Amino acid sequence: MDKNVSRLLNSQINKEFYSSYLYFEFANYYQEAGLDGFYNWYYVQAQEEMDHALLMVKYLQNNGEKVTFDAIAKPSAALTDNMAPLKAAFEHEKYITGEINEIYAAANAAKDFRTMQFLDWFVKEQGEEEKNASDLIRKMELFGSDARSLYLLDSELKTRVYAAPSLVL
Ligand code: FEO
Repeated sequence: MDKNVSRLLNSQINKEFYSSYLYFEFANYYQEAGLDGFYNWYYVQAQEEMDHALLMVKYLQNNGEKVTFDAIAKPSAALTDNMAPLKAAFEHEKYITGEINEIYAAANAAKDFRTMQFLDWFVKEQGEEEKNASDLIRKMELFGSDARSLYLLDSELKTRVYAAPSLVL
């Protein structure tokens, strides 16, 4: 595999684990706030982020590349109110989309078509995650200030269930 592509994927593993850590932090915030649905939403999201990291680990291993685990940074978002994690999540996902696109561009430049195909799933996934994150902000803007509506929104988010990724390596 192209060394630059391999290095970028290795570094993305850390960013996916960080994403997981960040969303566990958000889940923790909502657990303390008594919003069990929001807690559930981010707990599931954190699990999915771990899957993303592990898919990249497996992909590198399958291609005979060395995998390096770096330290995971402390989650950096300031959780000042119930909206703050939602906005931080949207910003974070846009950042991750940019990082995935960078790896895709590097794979394209190296004519690494296998990695491009592997990353196709992530490109699509990022589209979904950005939409989910922005939809949640919109719903919170509409309903977050009314206790009864917030309760209903929280109940809706409680229904999200974890499912293993559809991508098979
Ligand atoms: Fe794995 Fe939300 O990006």
